[in-house]
Amino acid sequence: MKYLIAPLMMLLLSSPALAQDIKNGETLHQNNCLRCHDSGVYTRTNKRVTTLPKLGKQVRFCKDNLGLTWFDDEVNDVVQFLNNNYYHF
Ligand code: HEC
Repeated sequence: MKYLIAPLMMLLLSSPALAQDIKNGETLHQNNCLRCHDSGVYTRTNKRVTTLPKLGKQVRFCKDNLGLTWFDDEVNDVVQFLNNNYYHF
């Protein structure tokens, strides 16, 4: 029984947080990231981002270009949002 409870607890504890992170990432993205390109760049056939670490790097690069000072948490929220909706790594 205890083998079942631990993963179940983790699932219960982590999924609402994850959903919240993605929602936060969506808001940040909506407000800041659609000035130079729309979301079409994330799904184009010759997209530059091909791995999760590259996605993190690209998000940092773009937000630095904007002069945004985001915490790592906020960068991660946007990465999660983009991965969840477009890249699916
Ligand atoms: C100052 C203009 C600018 C802003 C604002 C901007 N980007 Fe970008 N972004 C670019 C350029 C330029 C590229 C590269 C496009 C290309 O290679 O054709 C790019 C590409 C990307 C890619 C890679 C797409 C691929 O090919 O897979 C991602 C991911 C991305 N941006 C995320 C973001 C996020 C997240 C934000 C908000 C923090 C953001 N961008 C805001 C200029 C911008």
